[in-house]
Amino acid sequence: MKIFLDSADELQIKFWSGQGVLDGVTTNPLVLLRDGVTDPERVLTELARLTAPGVFHAEVTHASGPFLVSEARALSSIGDNVAVKVPVLTPEGESCLAEISELSRAGVVVNTTACLTLGQVVLAAKAGARYLSVLVGRVDDEGGDGAQVLAKAREWLDRWGYEAELIAASLRGTADVMRAIDAGAHCVTVPPAVLAKLVDHKFSRHTVREFLEAAETTNAA
Ligand code: E4P
Repeated sequence: MKIFLDSADELQIKFWSGQGVLDGVTTNPLVLLRDGVTDPERVLTELARLTAPGVFHAEVTHASGPFLVSEARALSSIGDNVAVKVPVLTPEGESCLAEISELSRAGVVVNTTACLTLGQVVLAAKAGARYLSVLVGRVDDEGGDGAQVLAKAREWLDRWGYEAELIAASLRGTADVMRAIDAGAHCVTVPPAVLAKLVDHKFSRHTVREFLEAAETTNAA
């Protein structure tokens, strides 16, 4: 299973890469805005370099059509390790599957994002996407069951022999990450604060403190 960092924060990417647990980094325009990125072209190139040999996911900002396709090709060329995130549809509900198919056939590694249903995952896989991002938190926000969408999608991909990888995204807490792992996501993308919480447990701290105090007593004897 792969762990991606859902962030455009250079320091966090460096820190978690140093922990030896990262397989890549995901970004989207909201993440860039939240992390204060003002020069996306330069920053995305730098973050892709920093993420290598892990996969760096950068998202298109055009809704559809030839502009989306040429932007995706340009993003793909910023590094050998780049996957281009393309939403499954436009805000008006028009399918982006044709663009996903064209890009995938041209060798661009596509991560279809904004998937909230099994149907969207199935269609994106058929269109050739390499990664399928299910925005679990957003499914849950609308009263759905994001973990169930993941589990059914994983079962479908395995049953029909698709190599595309399912990314559990929009994970807001440690319990979301655990549910995504349990549901069979190939990858989880986790915000830095949630990854930090996954390491922590107050009784682990207490246990380690006990060990260290015992060692001090032994060493002083
Ligand atoms: C990552 O690939 C997604 O774009 C991201 O996890 C979405 O998170 P959000 O739903 O919390 O904005």
